[in-house]
Amino acid sequence: MTRDANLKVRVKSAKGRKLSSTRWLERQLNDPYVREANRLGYRSRAAFKILEIDDKFKIFKPGQCILDLGAAPGGWSQVVANIVNSQSTSGQVLAIDILPIDALSGVKAMKLDIFEENAISLIKKQMIKPSADVILSDMAPSTTGHKATDHLRIVALLESALDIVDNLLSEGGTFIGKVFRGGTENQILNRMKRDFQLVKHIKPQSSRSNSSELYVVGINYRK
Ligand SMILES: C[S@@+](CC[C@H](N)C(=O)[O-])C[C@H]1O[C@@H](n2cnc3c(N)ncnc32)[C@H](O)[C@@H]1O
Repeated sequence: MTRDANLKVRVKSAKGRKLSSTRWLERQLNDPYVREANRLGYRSRAAFKILEIDDKFKIFKPGQCILDLGAAPGGWSQVVANIVNSQSTSGQVLAIDILPIDALSGVKAMKLDIFEENAISLIKKQMIKPSADVILSDMAPSTTGHKATDHLRIVALLESALDIVDNLLSEGGTFIGKVFRGGTENQILNRMKRDFQLVKHIKPQSSRSNSSELYVVGINYRK
């Protein structure tokens, strides 16, 4: 590992390490959000994205009940639990992922594939209120490299998240979902425009500029 004149860390390729892994390591070491996340003890750099989205739309308030879909390793849940104060109020942060999530203060973790047939009733059983104030989805499928397949998987995840919204979001509630540029199908967007008073897209600064990810925010859910 060396540093160049701009203090950029360069990682030498090592035997047994793929070039893609070397590049990933180099990117991690040079990413200010990764460094800041480490400094603040955040589970992931993704935490900054939800903080930026909240800064713009003022979504989270103490006492709210939040569903976080695709929550591992837990960066979003961690910062949201802090804002809604779920340790000491009647609020809740229910964090759901196929992967296990290590214990986090104020967060109830649930290991679940949202494509499971009875996913909605399983989630409902864990909720402390009949419906959530906010539903978040940062879900992303593992990519196959096959463009059409990856696209279908992304769309399927967002559609499932919206099915959960239909069943578990309170009237007046908010939905935030990860989408990919060129990937928010008109059909999905129309569904959201029908169900929410306001639908906006946002690309947080902390979302890597070379990533096609952005977020769609649905405000004031109409049941
Ligand atoms: C980008 S990560 C989420 C990062 C998280 N927001 C954070 O702040 O740490 C996307 C997550 O979606 C999860 N995921 C993908 N497909 C899923 C599914 N079918 N059901 C539940 N979680 C899923 C993945 O396991 C992965 O942990």
